Amino acid sequence: MATREQLLALNDELRRLKAGGQRAVAVTEEGMAQLRAAVSEVQEVSIAERSSAVSGAAAAIPVTESRKAEPAPAPAVSARPDLVLPEGDKQSRWNFVRDLVLNDQTCRGHVHPGKQVVFGVGNLDAAIMFVGEAPGGDEEEQGEPFVGRAGQLLNKMIKAMGLERSQVYIGNILNWRPAMGVRNPDGSQTGNRPPTAAEMAYCLPFIRAQIAIIQPKVIVALGKTAVDGLLGAERFKSMGAARGAWHSYADTPLRASYHPSYLLRQEGLTSIAAKKIKRDAWEDMLAAMERAGVPVSEKQRNYFL
Ligand code: URA
Repeated sequence: MATREQLLALNDELRRLKAGGQRAVAVTEEGMAQLRAAVSEVQEVSIAERSSAVSGAAAAIPVTESRKAEPAPAPAVSARPDLVLPEGDKQSRWNFVRDLVLNDQTCRGHVHPGKQVVFGVGNLDAAIMFVGEAPGGDEEEQGEPFVGRAGQLLNKMIKAMGLERSQVYIGNILNWRPAMGVRNPDGSQTGNRPPTAAEMAYCLPFIRAQIAIIQPKVIVALGKTAVDGLLGAERFKSMGAARGAWHSYADTPLRASYHPSYLLRQEGLTSIAAKKIKRDAWEDMLAAMERAGVPVSEKQRNYFL
């Protein structure tokens, strides 16, 4: 499954680069071989999914082979000491964790020159807290979660809920961008991959601390990585199994929903399956609103029907 997710993430990244005007990316021969092998591995994936992931990636941007690109070394991740929150008010405790993360040598070691470690943003008194997977290219550039295409969709969803982005809190399981390990000649990185278990274990105390400080009424876990990180990797086999019911993270109600990047891949699709995915995601938001005490209008209730 990791291979398919990597391809979908690569597809998103290629589209992002293309939208930014980039017309080619450099890939080593070894990288091309891995890409070809990965493409053939997803043959079992349903035709619809495969066409959006693989042909989408190929159509998004031409890939040129280059000997200059070299695999980027992945810094080792070792266990970090327990994070003990200081006494104090929300703001001072949040400042403490933010400083800790932004100056953490392991986090910084995963960030490439000119890019940033990404910490959560939003209202410290938020009733609803969204937790995503990891920063992408736009996020490590701006140092803020969910500011790229997926973030724009999340913003739309928040607006549809009758809220402003500044009224909720948004964080990620990982505080650095898990890049694909392909370094372009100019030193930049291409693609994202799902975080490794060691990376997640390293960063989990940071998102846990943010939850402990903010104490939201509801957590919305966006995507399987967020579900695995907060509820345990063994708990659910798929998003389908995690969605549609209330779970609990440290006594806080948690709703699992689709990651906005996955929802973006449904955009423009008119199949019954794609419509259902959008409605399901909206029902997750409605459930979160109700549980958090956010008023739901009749009009909102009927979106995506
Ligand atoms: N996807 C995520 O999971 N988090 C971000 O911050 C951006 C994209």
